[in-house]
Amino acid sequence: MHIVLVEPEIPPNTGNVARLCAATRSTLHLIEPFGFQLDDVQLKRAGMDYWQHVRWLRWPNWVGFAGQLPRHARLWFIESSGPRLYAQASFQPDDYLVFGRETAGLPKRLLEENRDRWLRIPMFNPEARSLNLSNCVALVLFEALRQQGFRGEFGDLGAGHEIPEAR
Ligand SMILES: C[S@@+](CC[C@H](N)C(=O)[O-])C[C@H]1O[C@@H](n2cnc3c(N)ncnc32)[C@H](O)[C@@H]1O
Repeated sequence: MHIVLVEPEIPPNTGNVARLCAATRSTLHLIEPFGFQLDDVQLKRAGMDYWQHVRWLRWPNWVGFAGQLPRHARLWFIESSGPRLYAQASFQPDDYLVFGRETAGLPKRLLEENRDRWLRIPMFNPEARSLNLSNCVALVLFEALRQQGFRGEFGDLGAGHEIPEAR
């Protein structure tokens, strides 16, 4: 899977996401500008000593990132208020999961242009504006991996596990 963080601002969030990417062998795309330096102590601490195991790429802006995508790349835009629940999407191994900036979220225009790929994580309290970015990455990434039978666990690239349908 590919995880894309658009203009991340808070070092521990990016560090946590890097750790998730290392553990799941996902590729992390970081789109500038960042709200921190890449040698930030908190970034390193949250990512622990996992950074060396992360396949990550840095892009100067959205256009630079989008311009290099393979022709058939499938992008999912994860943002609150989306028309579909994330668990209703059918994920493929090379899909890109795109997440927004902590203070501003994903640009409205990007979301409106991709309404059929805009997924929300349900929230149950109207007082809650949004969830934490790294929690969102964990939820959607593991749903995508669950749908693929958690293939590749511990380097086993075989058939994967039989996952019973949720009732
Ligand atoms: C802290 S949120 C963005 C701030 C938010 N727009 C606000 O109103 O303050 C950072 C990112 O986490 C993800 N996110 C947070 N809550 C979400 C939800 N309920 N559904 C889908 N994505 C969510 C999105 O990718 C979002 O861009």
